[in-house]
Amino acid sequence: MPKITKDTIGVGFIGAGDIAILHAKAVERTPGAKLVGLWNRSLERAKERAKDFGCKNYPTVDALVNDPAIDAVFVLTNLETHLEYTAAALKAGKHVLVEKPVGESVAQIAEMKKLADAKDLVCLPGHNYIYESSMRRTKELVDGGDLGKIVSAYVMYNIHHPEEVAKRYPGVVRQILTHHSYILLYLVGKPVELCAMKATLHYKEYTEEDIAMVQMRLHNGALAHFCASFAADDHAADPWTVMVKVIGTAGSTRYSYRDHVEIKPGLVHSQTYTAYQGSVMNEVRHFLVDCLRMGEKPLSTLEDAITAQTMIEAAEESIRKGSVVKL
Ligand SMILES: NC(=O)c1ccc[n+]([C@@H]2O[C@H](COP(=O)([O-])OP(=O)(O)OC[C@H]3O[C@@H](n4cnc5c(N)ncnc54)[C@H](O)[C@@H]3O)[C@@H](O)[C@H]2O)c1
Repeated sequence: MPKITKDTIGVGFIGAGDIAILHAKAVERTPGAKLVGLWNRSLERAKERAKDFGCKNYPTVDALVNDPAIDAVFVLTNLETHLEYTAAALKAGKHVLVEKPVGESVAQIAEMKKLADAKDLVCLPGHNYIYESSMRRTKELVDGGDLGKIVSAYVMYNIHHPEEVAKRYPGVVRQILTHHSYILLYLVGKPVELCAMKATLHYKEYTEEDIAMVQMRLHNGALAHFCASFAADDHAADPWTVMVKVIGTAGSTRYSYRDHVEIKPGLVHSQTYTAYQGSVMNEVRHFLVDCLRMGEKPLSTLEDAITAQTMIEAAEESIRKGSVVKL
């Protein structure tokens, strides 16, 4: 991978919604990087966010991706537009960080990979959770055999989202189980078969699911379980707000969003789960410093995004058919 040697890596944002706020803070705290400017579909929001972030506001996507001051483009718009904007940035020779879910289909992500590979550019999927130090330690323990034979893995997510916020996203299968899928891949590998169920429990009009669960069998015969819910918060003792567990015959690990909580609303969350911002911060530093400046291989790649999307599509098929699906 080519290394960027200039003093400051210039960043441009396509999209300036909620997640852009976390990315702006992450870029601000990354040494040797600067948010140069953004483009957003609505001009009013673009102006407001450019003022908040202390950057300029581009009139068009073309102007942003063709600005020589910009080395890396963050695609922070809704899922349906990821391929269009990622392709525009890669064709202009810029490295890209594209939010998850990366694409609407395996074919869309494969198209991004083809464009990135052709120009030797980094196109990093927004797989933020795996950049937490506790996740990395879990992986080291699993890979080193310190946990013994892995018997189970759990990824649980229970964060209430009001209907008007949920409507901006697909259902939780795509929107949230994508996180679960790349976490599982990173920690213990791809499942060999899965079955899934979903329900819609608290929306009045929105018809997509607000809760989904998946059961899986892994390569070594171990089982895994996912839960993704926008339907209700879990505020009980030791809550499963976001919880990742790996259990082996010789030890086990736990990662929880509840390790750091600030008593104030965090975007749409009822409290601020500090790990959310922290994981985006670590991801952005990995992209800009480890990958673009030092030339390291990304911890998570578009290949992983393709496998995660394969798992999502298998879960959808299982829900549709009411059956177990082989991967
Ligand atoms: N990694 C995470 O933990 C995480 C968390 C939340 C959202 N996300 C992802 O980030 C992306 C944005 O989510 P958000 O929460 O910021 O949503 P948002 O609704 O707050 O912002 C979306 C932005 O996309 C723009 N947009 C929508 N449709 C568009 C179109 N057709 N053309 C151009 N721009 C369009 C909107 O103007 C808005 O600025 C989504 O892909 C979402 O899945 C990731």
